[in-house]
Amino acid sequence: MDMGLSLKGRVAIVTGGAGGIGSATCRLLTERGAKVVVADLDGERAAALAADLPDALAVKVDLASEAEIENLFSKTLDAYGRLDILDNNAALLGADVVQADHDIANMTTELWDRTFAVNTRGTMLCCRNALKIMEKQGSGAIINTASNLALQGHVIQAAYSASKAAVLQMTRSIAASHGKRGIRCNSVLPGLTGTKAALADLPPRLRQIVEEETLTPYVGDPMDIAETVAFLASDAARSITGQMIVVDGGTSVHVPGFARFTEMIAGG
Ligand SMILES: NC(=O)c1ccc[n+]([C@@H]2O[C@H](COP(=O)([O-])OP(=O)(O)OC[C@H]3O[C@@H](n4cnc5c(N)ncnc54)[C@H](O)[C@@H]3O)[C@@H](O)[C@H]2O)c1
Repeated sequence: MDMGLSLKGRVAIVTGGAGGIGSATCRLLTERGAKVVVADLDGERAAALAADLPDALAVKVDLASEAEIENLFSKTLDAYGRLDILDNNAALLGADVVQADHDIANMTTELWDRTFAVNTRGTMLCCRNALKIMEKQGSGAIINTASNLALQGHVIQAAYSASKAAVLQMTRSIAASHGKRGIRCNSVLPGLTGTKAALADLPPRLRQIVEEETLTPYVGDPMDIAETVAFLASDAARSITGQMIVVDGGTSVHVPGFARFTEMIAGG
């Protein structure tokens, strides 16, 4: 039995495939042998990336639209005849959205609904479409991207973190309902990851706080997430399902006050 990392002959959809983490993932899945469907709201960037990969297809899709999601899956079947990997990576992340997403007392219903429409409902619809194909094949791997913010309370991004926490539970539901049918489903939870989108609007003081609270000497990079997705998609992960893999340099595992304790000890 081949339990390696090879994805030779597999067909993958990566939503948000034109973004920072998504494009790194599309490239790595391709390197490991997969045919990749770059699915993104930004059709131009998706097309440019697909043109740069050996056997890839770009599909413009808005995950807030059920009809467009159905079109994504039928285009994938038309092009490749199967689907082995679904990487649900897209999320509503524009600077306007992130800046407006505060605590629940100040939450607008419109922002809450928009966030859940893409991050949670969109992910569910992609899973549902993928499961119909994967059930017939008797195999498949789904990777849902959440965030380490889904694990802890914070003073920012209340809608985003709740939408991602729902994705964690959806992951366990799918793992339970479809494991015996040869389909695995796991979540990847990035911490701050050095994409343009994540870092562009980050004030230096905020970045410094994250660095101090991260146990590794560096803040993660899109390839850290891509490597985890590619592993979870492969046969090397055949016994891993329903899990949350946190890829945040340990930011979410330490005791409160870690950075201040470290400073105190270093300072004698
Ligand atoms: N970068 C980080 O620091 C970080 C941290 C935690 C979690 N994440 C998660 O990782 C994933 C990727 O994030 P990223 O940093 O690469 O962001 P990014 O903004 O670079 O990429 C997101 C992509 O999703 C696409 N997208 C947005 N709305 C869409 C929609 N309605 N339909 C289809 N596509 C849509 C965008 O066009 C973009 O290409 C997201 O799920 C995000 O929540 C990222």
